[in-house]
Amino acid sequence: MGDATTAGRPETATVPEAAESAPPGLDEAGLRLDVAGAVATVTLNRPERRNAMTFATWRGLAAIGRSLPADVRVVVLRGEGPSFSAGIDLGMFSGGGGGEGFTDGSDAEGTDRFIAELQEGYTWLRRPDIVSVASVHGHAIGAGFQLALACDIRVVAEDAKFCMKEPALGLVPDLTGTKPLVEIVGVGRALELCLTARTVLADEAARIGLAEILVPRDGLDAAVRDLADALLAVNPGAAAATKRLLWQAAENTLDEQCAAERREQIGRLREVFGS
Ligand code: ACO
Repeated sequence: MGDATTAGRPETATVPEAAESAPPGLDEAGLRLDVAGAVATVTLNRPERRNAMTFATWRGLAAIGRSLPADVRVVVLRGEGPSFSAGIDLGMFSGGGGGEGFTDGSDAEGTDRFIAELQEGYTWLRRPDIVSVASVHGHAIGAGFQLALACDIRVVAEDAKFCMKEPALGLVPDLTGTKPLVEIVGVGRALELCLTARTVLADEAARIGLAEILVPRDGLDAAVRDLADALLAVNPGAAAATKRLLWQAAENTLDEQCAAERREQIGRLREVFGS
């Protein structure tokens, strides 16, 4: 059971400290950053709005990525309250709070720049020096589903519900989610999920590869902690090099990938056995 100081936080062996280098404005962005040694936990923290995200949230995520302490090796994304995230804050579509800068797309170049900046909130999670882990419970809708997809690994509670809602709202998923979704489930399944905007429950998510680890709801924090411990047990240089290799494997020819393996191994051999 948590006490007044730990309530609402993931249970960790050591109570996480607020990051010394935490960027300003995270509270307003609906985010919290806790750093405990090599593990940074980013909490989507607007439970009363089911962790709906605003432009400030995505800018805040990008700022966290830029300011992460160099010794952080695992980044956990989680949601406070009943849901991981209900996606974009729908209030922004009608000029509500946090919607400043909302564009109708009439300025194509400006809109392109605007969306690219928001996408930066997601793309850093693929950096090779960290492993990003989505800890998903409850609803992961739209931008929330895409945030889980942006992570390297998804640990999913049995009450999780994924839904790619954007097409049902007349939009496309544009927060980097289409590529990992297709890579994980294939084009046919991705089309079926997106164009029906149907909800995928946790069992199915595990079956089709959206969840690497499926656990009971009350075991989610412990499962994430165990995973983080296992990830941290691996040599950091080997972890980064392997992540680089694995993420480029799908794009490379076999020859290119073999060459990449040789290059990375030369670096490893020098570090592990070199004088
Ligand atoms: N944006 C703004 N407010 C939201 C959002 C959202 N995306 N989701 C929930 N809220 C608010 C609700 O309006 C409600 O506010 P209120 O207490 O002032 O009435 C509060 O959060 C709680 O929501 P409930 O609907 O009462 O919670 P419940 O647990 O029953 O349902 C659910 C959760 C399923 C997530 C539901 O709120 C929902 O369907 N939300 C909208 C999801 C959505 O369409 N998101 C956009 C996807 S597209 C994209 O992300 C680009």
